[in-house]
Amino acid sequence: MSNLDILKLCYLLGSLSFIVGLKMLGKPDTAKKGNFYAGIGMAIAILGTIFFHQNGEGEKIGNLAWIFGGIAIGTIVGYLAAMKVKMTQMPQMVSLFNGMGGACAALIGIVEMDTHHPEAFGERFIIFLGLMIGTISFAGSMIAYGKLEGKIKDVGSKFQQIFNNTFIFAIIALVGYASYDVEFMSSNVIWIIFGASLIYGVLFVMPIGGADMPVVISLLNSFTGVAAAFGGFLYDNQVMLTGGILVGSAGTILTVLMCKAMNRSLWNVIIGAFSTSTSTGKSTEGLSIREINATDTAILCAYAQKVTIIPGYGLAVAQAQHTCHEFEKVLEEKGVEVNFAIHPVAGRMPGHMNVLLAEADVSYDKLKEMDDINPQLPNTDVVIVIGANDVVNPAAETDPGSPIYGMPIIKANTAKNIIVMKRSMAKGYAGIENELFYDSKTRMLFGDAKAMLEKLIAEVKAV
Ligand code: TAP
Repeated sequence: MSNLDILKLCYLLGSLSFIVGLKMLGKPDTAKKGNFYAGIGMAIAILGTIFFHQNGEGEKIGNLAWIFGGIAIGTIVGYLAAMKVKMTQMPQMVSLFNGMGGACAALIGIVEMDTHHPEAFGERFIIFLGLMIGTISFAGSMIAYGKLEGKIKDVGSKFQQIFNNTFIFAIIALVGYASYDVEFMSSNVIWIIFGASLIYGVLFVMPIGGADMPVVISLLNSFTGVAAAFGGFLYDNQVMLTGGILVGSAGTILTVLMCKAMNRSLWNVIIGAFSTSTSTGKSTEGLSIREINATDTAILCAYAQKVTIIPGYGLAVAQAQHTCHEFEKVLEEKGVEVNFAIHPVAGRMPGHMNVLLAEADVSYDKLKEMDDINPQLPNTDVVIVIGANDVVNPAAETDPGSPIYGMPIIKANTAKNIIVMKRSMAKGYAGIENELFYDSKTRMLFGDAKAMLEKLIAEVKAV
């Protein structure tokens, strides 16, 4: 078998493992293995390239010490970062890693234009486009990272939106013309496209904030995939192409699903024209809340037939997933049917609640998606909202002035009894009041989710 045959086999294995891995990521019980298989595929593709790739003159890849040095540093940094990161900081990490992918795609563009001086329109176009998209993804991801870390504030205006749109069309026009006319500002054009894309990436994400952030991260993720796929085209590298297409399409599908879940049109995301509503929700002045204690909650739940737990960001903050599973088990021992209602954007990253509860070994068939659980809630005796707020806010259905108006919600307000477990009357991510807390069927159970669930477990056992 020649080196080329072995390399092709490595790429085939790599591509297959990406596809199988991605498929397995679709279900919580196979997700870990899927990630592992895709990682193995990536290792095969990288090592295959390093050891079996040859250029036209039959020379193999040199600079092995640099390459393995880089891999070693990247592995150590990546491993430590992944081990250290808190579940609640996952979106920041995704943003950062995605930005690195975009930067790599951009570097490919800069290096290839410089070393190969391609003259064919198609080749130049692919390089410029990969550079543009990769750079936008890099700059945008860095801004998204800063925003999620709370270091960068949302800055935007109507004028900026118009400027952004004009600017991106100008960059695309430049990419088109520079690809067509080889002589056009030949050595400078690559740096102009790079600089302009960098600025656009920053301007693109600056106005976006609040509840729309996950959409933008997922969109940037798809950008990186597309930029990597261009790299695959350029190098005629099948595994890079497959990987890029998978990331690009999976990111796009996730973006569309997020848009639906958060009630944003994709075009609004692309032009950065997000909801400019400044409403903080209907005034709750004059409305009063009713409190409940752990003992009464435990009695209510233990004598119920059906209890649905609606987890949210607070469950992740409190790291109460294991305690929550324990609570589910003690209720089931009392003969109560317990389910979990999962909102697609509960928490701070796609699938956050699934990941959290899967980690605590909650049975997957108990995790009910929003559309499946909502019709069942009117027949549910008790819903317990644990550290969730925006995803159960009826303003999404009743208040057209609300920034979350139109976002599908878990209709906790339709259940027979509503218990809301949180530490205070503080607002959620969208920064708006929640009428659910003042509903006549609602009782507030104030406390940290983990400590309160521990109390509830003890109380249910004592019933
Ligand atoms: P939020 O609306 O953010 O509300 C979380 C609530 O948890 C807060 O009101 C907070 O109230 C409570 N909490 C915090 N720490 C707690 C603790 N230790 N124990 C008990 N409660 C605690 O959460 P949600 O309902 O899950 O909604 C998610 C929001 O984030 C949506 O607006 C969504 O659009 C946005 N978002 C989602 C994503 C993705 S992709 N999932 C990414 C970014 C943003 P107290 O302080 O009073 O306890």
